[in-house]
Amino acid sequence: MDIANKTVLITGANRGIGQALVEEALRRGAKRVYAGMRSPVPHPDRRVTPLTLDVTSAAQIRRAAGQVDILDVLINNAGIALYDDLSELSVVEQHLAVNLFGPLKVTQAFLPLLTRSRGAIVNNVSMMSLAPLPITPAYAISKAAAFNLTQSLRALLAGRGVRVHAVLTGPTDTDMTRGFEIPKASPPSVARAIFDGVEKGDEDIFPDPASQSIAEGWRTGVVKAMEHQFAAFAPASAATAA
Ligand SMILES: NC(=O)c1ccc[n+]([C@@H]2O[C@H](COP(=O)([O-])OP(=O)(O)OC[C@H]3O[C@@H](n4cnc5c(N)ncnc54)[C@H](OP(=O)(O)O)[C@@H]3O)[C@@H](O)[C@H]2O)c1
Repeated sequence: MDIANKTVLITGANRGIGQALVEEALRRGAKRVYAGMRSPVPHPDRRVTPLTLDVTSAAQIRRAAGQVDILDVLINNAGIALYDDLSELSVVEQHLAVNLFGPLKVTQAFLPLLTRSRGAIVNNVSMMSLAPLPITPAYAISKAAAFNLTQSLRALLAGRGVRVHAVLTGPTDTDMTRGFEIPKASPPSVARAIFDGVEKGDEDIFPDPASQSIAEGWRTGVVKAMEHQFAAFAPASAATAA
């Protein structure tokens, strides 16, 4: 997969990692970049088409899908992270709505286009998909579920030629980690590593120094081997489903 001349859609594109992904897609010569935003703002590059897209809104997802006719790469990047202690069920539900059901619904809406292009889905999850940081447990639950969703989609869509990547991002310097005093990667460096991983065809992408420190252990570990064994059980019907 070469991003040059491709059409890419990025959710949560107005700031943070999403904004850096827009710039990096343009730098690599993308033909068109659909920038999904809750409050769209124009972009100086004419290759960027802003799309109104709150990933929790079925109506906005449907409308956005109607505005796109070709799509090679969908990047589910939009996300929220709130500090919590699991005492409020509504906080868990809020995280699941954005970080789990958001990517699932957006993926379903754009899957016909991605199937046609034999394209790629990139889910920006988190290192916390693998182990929770107990200051944001609701976030970690939603990202663990989103990673598991990514693994299922990967198995189910392989027969249709759609690649599904997980990005196990570590601490990155955005609004999301403001006030959290630890070493952080820059959003542009993370965006570059994400597209490098997509272009190389890496199933799981570790785009920063913190996540890279676990990459080798993950790729050669028992859980990854189990994922590959289980993937063989994907029903043949998944390859032809609409
Ligand atoms: N920063 C990190 O250290 C880190 C680490 C691991 C994973 N990640 C993941 O990377 C992704 C991007 O995070 P970030 O660090 O760039 O965070 P950020 O700067 O806080 O940006 C979050 C983005 O998501 C958008 N968003 C939130 N709720 C949305 C909704 N309902 N519909 C559509 N867009 C919505 C925001 O839009 P508004 O401006 O409208 O709020 C914003 O564009 C997230 O999925 C996050 O979990 C980040």
